[in-house]
Amino acid sequence: MFDIPAGIQDSLFRALGTSEKVLIARAPGRINLIGEHTDYNNGLVLPGAIDKYTYFACKPNGTDTISATAIDFNESISIPLDQLEKSDNLWTNFLIGLLLEFQKREINLVGFDCAFTSEVPIGAGMSSSSALECAILVGLQELLAARDLTKWDLINMSQSSNHNFLGIKGGIMDQFASLFGQENQVMLLDCSSSDHEYVSLINDEYSWLLINSCVKHNHLTSGYNDRVQECQQAVEEIQSKFPDVAQLSDLTSTAQLSSVSFSSPTIKQRACFVLEENQRVRAFVRALAEHDLDTCGQLLYASHKGLAEDYEVSCDELNFLVQLLRGRAGVLGSRMMGGGFGGCTINLIHNTEIRAIKKEVTEQYKEAFDIDPLFYEVNIAEGASCAIFYDLSD
Ligand code: GLA
Repeated sequence: MFDIPAGIQDSLFRALGTSEKVLIARAPGRINLIGEHTDYNNGLVLPGAIDKYTYFACKPNGTDTISATAIDFNESISIPLDQLEKSDNLWTNFLIGLLLEFQKREINLVGFDCAFTSEVPIGAGMSSSSALECAILVGLQELLAARDLTKWDLINMSQSSNHNFLGIKGGIMDQFASLFGQENQVMLLDCSSSDHEYVSLINDEYSWLLINSCVKHNHLTSGYNDRVQECQQAVEEIQSKFPDVAQLSDLTSTAQLSSVSFSSPTIKQRACFVLEENQRVRAFVRALAEHDLDTCGQLLYASHKGLAEDYEVSCDELNFLVQLLRGRAGVLGSRMMGGGFGGCTINLIHNTEIRAIKKEVTEQYKEAFDIDPLFYEVNIAEGASCAIFYDLSD
């Protein structure tokens, strides 16, 4: 149980036309300290859930139809349960894809009314789409009394919907962070074994500041799927020399890569990045344990360099934001965060400098790109849950 901001609760009840027997689920967006584009290579990531949530409210309507309202887009749709097909509307497809996953698991669907609204900015690299998917999953799990499903089942359902229904070949980091998040803790996840451990992130002097470049990316068109495919190709090429390497995260040294004859320098670069990014995650966690934030910061810069030059998922705006803060007093590190091609940078900054930095970045970014950047001082927060639950069987 948790508090829902009053304005959000009102808008959900208004969209549903009632406050009775309504179930509300919420699921957060995420940050990722380090370990980018490693999840779909079965590598290491270090995300945390943030205190920005997507809220999904629903109630059974006794019919064979689902009525859904996206409050933030001011859009509503009605879908008969026997017509769960792909539409040309992304948020509708998120809902339909997940409903089909419940059906695949032989969970009976019922008609319901639902509405959702979000605090997670769209296209900022904070995973607004996973927050929506996880809020839907957690809400429907309760509504459909599918309580046997574990968090990992929900993660797999989301990934299956993304891969097979939406055509987005994403990893599991975002859904994992949204479902497993805990206050003030980031999570070291090994995507190959699903082993994870919580790492405390309390520090009174430094904060994690997100700077939104306000350039929007879209996984489908941005080349995300291209990177997934290039990594698969790299694995195949490496296997001709090292048959035991089943995924890029099995690589242990750059020397291994030097002895493989790759079809192109690009494919080698992609493999090299994944190997080094996994090494950086390990080094970062060690440095955190030793309270060595200087080293953490250097690893952020190194991660950005790899993402920009070897993995080629950055863009001018993000490079500018990172470069602007490099070497500035009070800044320990900076890098692009998430899928890339826009969205946010994540920055480790001394609390006393945040105000001045916001001003400087705003002025210089505006001058360079004629865009006003946005800033978020996020807190690491609890993962998804159901907020209000009335006895739906009454
Ligand atoms: C997106 C995907 C994640 C992950 C990141 C990059 O957020 O949804 O699965 O691949 O990009 O680290």
